Amino acid sequence: MQAVAAVPRHLAIVMDGNGRWAKKRHLPRFFGHKAGVDTLVKLIGTCQARGIEHLTVYAFSSENWRRPEDEVSGLMGLVIVAVTKYLTKLARDGVRIVIIGDRESVSDRLRRAWNEAEALTRDNKGLTLSVAFNYGGRWDIVRACQRAMADGLSAGQITEASLSSYLATAHAPDPDLLIRTGGEMRISNFLLWQMAYTEMVFSDCLWPDFNDAALDAALTAFAGRERRFGDVAPAAAR
Ligand code: IPE
Ligand code: IPE
Ligand code: MG
Repeated sequence: MQAVAAVPRHLAIVMDGNGRWAKKRHLPRFFGHKAGVDTLVKLIGTCQARGIEHLTVYAFSSENWRRPEDEVSGLMGLVIVAVTKYLTKLARDGVRIVIIGDRESVSDRLRRAWNEAEALTRDNKGLTLSVAFNYGGRWDIVRACQRAMADGLSAGQITEASLSSYLATAHAPDPDLLIRTGGEMRISNFLLWQMAYTEMVFSDCLWPDFNDAALDAALTAFAGRERRFGDVAPAAAR
């Protein structure tokens, strides 16, 4: 039996295209990232209004360290500024913030900002915003294995369910819909395990330009999809 969920319970977004957005305006890439943060904050409210429970956004990948040093340090600084600027509002709106990603290799200051955001919003019951920062799908799977082993699980105890519980996204169901902006059609090491059956929408829109109308277009596309999870099409089953 296939229930067609009109609204994804869990929406994941690869927020791509900030650099090109800035370039089009003859601005340094940093300004694209800055505009991208504002776009995200606006969109969180819309996601809540549409009934989405989980929003997971790709903010910095394990591979983004390869970028020029000034861009990387600009992004790190931007997170701290964004937390300072928006945390109170998000907390008031009932948003629960969870950081998924490797916190070990970020600065103490950034780690403190993330910890503060999580602590302040821990008991919120509104939308759960998971920020994938210094995140890689491969990192997540390897770490899950390491954690399971550290807990003493035997080879036979490693199952899809047990391993899932060690992933950084253990607090959320698998994403129903992935949106990637910026025109590329690839995963770029995002939620590799979790996206086994995720529907995908690729948009040419550069992330800072993404707005409610673009979100609604993606949600409409999702609502028209027939999810099968390996089963036969519902019409054929009857
Ligand atoms: C995505 O935008 C944001 C991050 C990866 C941090 P990009 O910076 O990748 O923008 P483009 O793809 O170069 O336009
Ligand atoms: C993916 O975008 C990562 C984020 C949006 C944070 P990239 O711009 O890093 O992806 P590639 O390098 O084009 O695959
Ligand atoms: Mg990019």
